Amino acid sequence: RFTPRVFSGIQPSGGLTLGNYLGALKRFAEKQDEGIETIYCLVDLHAITVWQDPEKLRHQTREAAAAFIASGVDPARSILFNQSQVSGHAELAWLFNCVARLGWMNRMTQFKDKTAGKNAENSSLGLYAYPSLMAADILLYHATQVPVGEDQKQHVELTRDIAAKFNHDYKTDFFPIPEPAIEGSATRVMSLRDGTRKMSKSDPSDMSRINLTDDADTIAQKFRKARTDPEPLPSEAEGLKDRAEARNLVNIYAALSGESVDQVLRSHGGQGFGAFKPALADLAVSKLAPISAEMARLMADPAEIDRILGQGAERADAIAAPILAQTLDIMGM
Ligand code: ADP
Ligand code: NA
Repeated sequence: RFTPRVFSGIQPSGGLTLGNYLGALKRFAEKQDEGIETIYCLVDLHAITVWQDPEKLRHQTREAAAAFIASGVDPARSILFNQSQVSGHAELAWLFNCVARLGWMNRMTQFKDKTAGKNAENSSLGLYAYPSLMAADILLYHATQVPVGEDQKQHVELTRDIAAKFNHDYKTDFFPIPEPAIEGSATRVMSLRDGTRKMSKSDPSDMSRINLTDDADTIAQKFRKARTDPEPLPSEAEGLKDRAEARNLVNIYAALSGESVDQVLRSHGGQGFGAFKPALADLAVSKLAPISAEMARLMADPAEIDRILGQGAERADAIAAPILAQTLDIMGM
């Protein structure tokens, strides 16, 4: 009944990482070739759930837009826009705040992770309600497919719960039940310093991540210093089972080269990290250097980026506004 449609987003809350590229951006670009409508959003309303310096946020939003385009998201084939420019996101999020249950929010592990070791009582109400806004982002477009990394799986499941409860409570089938699309060998790229944490733009240690804007020397240095064990690489994936750091580097290699993990191990099995890390760094530089060069080119003309985002917002609103109006109508407003 629902036209297949992809929706996903990234927070402009800092420079984007190799994790964002492999888990999200690269796949966003690939989705365009599947003959499916694609809608991609810079989710600034999510970013402000923790305090953002206004000028930095403006800059990071443009930089994230540049990263999308440089990674192959074509603003002519995809709708690329900025969440705060389409008012329906915040409006539908309020309606969903009244559908979602407190108990559901209490089970969200990201909120627990983000407030771990801090005073949770002092975090914003927005950070707590974040998954309800994410459900609104997706359902405002009747999206059916949500490409995300592993870390967002629980939030997409909550989106499904909200859609199902809305449909049940209002005796309708208005909202689709969207599917998470978590595919490939890089659905969870891990920190280079700690194999138990995901690589993230919000990690305090810059050595833990590869930034899309890192130069070749920095990339080589970060991989060289990446934590690993002293064993050589195994010749089969099974041999990586209890080696989180080694597995992470092989997964990154596979995702960057487009090979399977088994193929990577067939050519690199038996190698020590003294040889594998420079090969990985060379591969990463060959993929990321053109992206960061294109980002720099785009960032030289911020007005053009704003124009692209403005056009994207108009196209997004044309889909969103009628869906919001019908939602209000179904609810008696
Ligand atoms: P971050 O966690 O870096 O702040 P976001 O929350 O903005 O990133 O997530 C944007 C997208 O990037 C999501 O689809 C998320 O699943 C994906 N993503 C973020 N970090 C990683 C990672 N380390 N590995 C794979 N995908 C990731
Ligand atoms: Na995230």
